[in-house]
Amino acid sequence: MTAQIIDGNAVAAKVRDGYKARVERLLRQGITPGLAVVMVGDNPASEVYVGNKVRACRKVGLRSEAFRFRADAPQEAVLERIAALNADASIHGVIVQLPLPPGYDMRRLLEAIDRNKDVDGFHLYNVGGLVIGETVFPPCTPYGVQILLEHVGIPTEGQNVVVVGASNIVGKPMALMLLQKEATVAICHVKTRDLAQFTILADILVVAAGKPDLITAPMVKRGAVVIDVGINRLPDGRLVGDVDFEAVKERASWITPVPGGVGPMTVTMLLGNTISAAERAASPRL
Ligand code: GUN
Repeated sequence: MTAQIIDGNAVAAKVRDGYKARVERLLRQGITPGLAVVMVGDNPASEVYVGNKVRACRKVGLRSEAFRFRADAPQEAVLERIAALNADASIHGVIVQLPLPPGYDMRRLLEAIDRNKDVDGFHLYNVGGLVIGETVFPPCTPYGVQILLEHVGIPTEGQNVVVVGASNIVGKPMALMLLQKEATVAICHVKTRDLAQFTILADILVVAAGKPDLITAPMVKRGAVVIDVGINRLPDGRLVGDVDFEAVKERASWITPVPGGVGPMTVTMLLGNTISAAERAASPRL
């Protein structure tokens, strides 16, 4: 069996097309959805992600602004900026790009964001919403994976899902979202013994561990759907995921490539959450 490739760029383009009418409706009401990205330090990967976010906003008619702080800026200065953005009615979404340099209290910064502008979904209020299936802003990467699965028509009810990686940004919210969709979910992580005994059971395998070639072909059930969230830069400059793509694609039914799989969806869902935030601000009952 050779897997069908899930084309994240194509799905992202389709989802973004669907945003056009919503953005136009807001523009007619005199509202331009606005996203503020707060970045501290000069992590090169974060620079790329922030650049992608700003560019993507421009393409769909959103306003965006990046606020950069040096790695040694006082935390109070960042908190003051977040407070100003919370109070700014022209800004509907506020995110703090992660990771933060050492010395910053990540939770304090994330909790400072107005929960109605928390378009990354990292504020405790939104995390709690996710637990009870009432989330307002689903975290962008797992939300993007969910939309990819829907787009290619893969049902999740009753499926065995194995999530490899238990981060707050991807693994845990992914597991909660798929549990809400009535999948049977297992979460594996760095301390899991004999990872393969879990992954081999997966009808849907989501890998977000940040380790090249962590998932090899014998670890994958024939016909499984494999979603690779990993983004790793190899010493030779190549960008790869966590899955041995060439070998695993001969066993899976569907597989996401890296790059061009989950990545384009993350930014797309951020745009979607920002548009939702602007709609909610315009109609507070939403
Ligand atoms: N760093 C890696 N992924 C993310 C994300 O989705 N949002 C933010 N703010 N930072 C990240």
